[in-house]
Amino acid sequence: MARLLGSLLLMATAGTFVAGAAPTPGAETAGPLGEVVPAPASVEPGGSPYRITRATRIRVDDSGAVRRIGEYVADVLRPSTGYPLPVTSRGKGGIQLRLAKGPFGAEGYRLDSGAKGVTITAAQPAGLFHGVQTLRQLLPAAVEKDSVQPGPWLVAGGTIKDTPRYGWRGAMLDVSRHFFTVDQVKRYVDQLALYKVNKLHLHLSDDQGWRIAVDSWPRLTTYGGSTQVGGGPGGFYTKADYREIVRYAASRYLEVVPEIDVPGHTNAALASYAELNCDGVAPPLYTGTEVGFSSLCVSKEITYDFVDDVIRELAALTPGRYLHIGGDEAHSTSHEDYVKFMDRVQPVVAEYGKTVVGWHQLTGATPAKGAVAQYWGLDDTSAEEKERVAAAARGGTGIVLSPADRIYLDMKYTADTPLGLDWAGLVEVKRSYDWDPGSYLPGVPASAVRGVEAPMWTETLTNSADIEYMAFPRLAGAAELGWSPAATHDWDRYKVRLAAQGPRWEALGIDYYRSPQVPWPGR
Ligand code: ACM
Repeated sequence: MARLLGSLLLMATAGTFVAGAAPTPGAETAGPLGEVVPAPASVEPGGSPYRITRATRIRVDDSGAVRRIGEYVADVLRPSTGYPLPVTSRGKGGIQLRLAKGPFGAEGYRLDSGAKGVTITAAQPAGLFHGVQTLRQLLPAAVEKDSVQPGPWLVAGGTIKDTPRYGWRGAMLDVSRHFFTVDQVKRYVDQLALYKVNKLHLHLSDDQGWRIAVDSWPRLTTYGGSTQVGGGPGGFYTKADYREIVRYAASRYLEVVPEIDVPGHTNAALASYAELNCDGVAPPLYTGTEVGFSSLCVSKEITYDFVDDVIRELAALTPGRYLHIGGDEAHSTSHEDYVKFMDRVQPVVAEYGKTVVGWHQLTGATPAKGAVAQYWGLDDTSAEEKERVAAAARGGTGIVLSPADRIYLDMKYTADTPLGLDWAGLVEVKRSYDWDPGSYLPGVPASAVRGVEAPMWTETLTNSADIEYMAFPRLAGAAELGWSPAATHDWDRYKVRLAAQGPRWEALGIDYYRSPQVPWPGR
């Protein structure tokens, strides 16, 4: 009731805001304007729909970035419509992408739909790209198919004004426990882009495998990357592979956040170089799933030469602002050593021009100025641990929220889920969606919350189908928590918008978990 009152008040005060728009007449559109995930900030339905036809053109301005987004739209729409959809910088009407000054911020956009066309306007290319994802969802699900479909291709009339709640809307992929190829990562990037996710966090090293080439320590990959959980062949990214992932992610407006997890989770490195071990003896490679048994040798100088080399080479490959140094589950490192280690390693990240990100255990040391801590506790994590994070946040540390019993995408949905783990609990779709990042951690100022990230650990996941079954539908909810205004948060409305995604995923070849909590069409 309080929530209903809240949205009524919001409509009354914001005037144009419609939380859950009434159905638009004309059943052939995908649905009412704004039946989109993540929920847009503001939706004003009305006026005639736009119909994409054989004569439709995609209008772009002269900037290279906008033309590339125009080509991306054409690549999405041509196979299913069968229309030529030329991309041109001349004329008016049709699907128009334009950069203009306005109240859009770095990633926001405005979408206007009417009889003559659909125009997406933004201040930056990222905003146009996100607006294009909205346009896709305003078309029937069959638009996502890769063969010609009958249509008609109608977009409901009206205006959407949209801008994200948070600047950090992430997804993490663990490529260490099982290795995933460049093509598999690209496939996930395309899926993340559908929901306006803008950070791809790659967990590049762990006990079971080192996955990124480091020229100054070549055995990290040639030996340390040669296996994975279960003993399979593993693999690693060459520098060219990694650059290709970065390039592709950037083409979908995602920034890569690379993670090298230290000082724990380092068996693959310790196995590759005996001198990194305090006793000078390399342990065997590890293909199990225990955690907390490995540590770099905090008292040896060579450890810091190693960390410097790795961070220098990785920073040089990474155009993004951030470098994640892990720091979780360092159970084989004393607290004193952990603090000492983090005091030496964080400045190295800064020296190579990057901002430190760490799992929230970093707040047990002294986070560097401007650092970001990624919270991965549970609802019932101790008040003391949460307060340590909150105190850091009040002192200026940014917080990214990844509560494990909410948005760890590798947690089983139910006891029957064939994949995944359950150490953080069983996480059905409603539980995953129904929390507020702005108030989740007591004592954290809302301004310290940078956003939301959904990690995917891969102890039990070996291929794209596995990833997709665990990500969908929960990824969409995590993305919505990161993008949509808190005022739009409403499970009963969300589950209806979410249900409409099911046919899109089917059209895209994504096999998702058919949660009984969601009213999927035709079920
Ligand atoms: C973690 O799940 N160990 C960050």
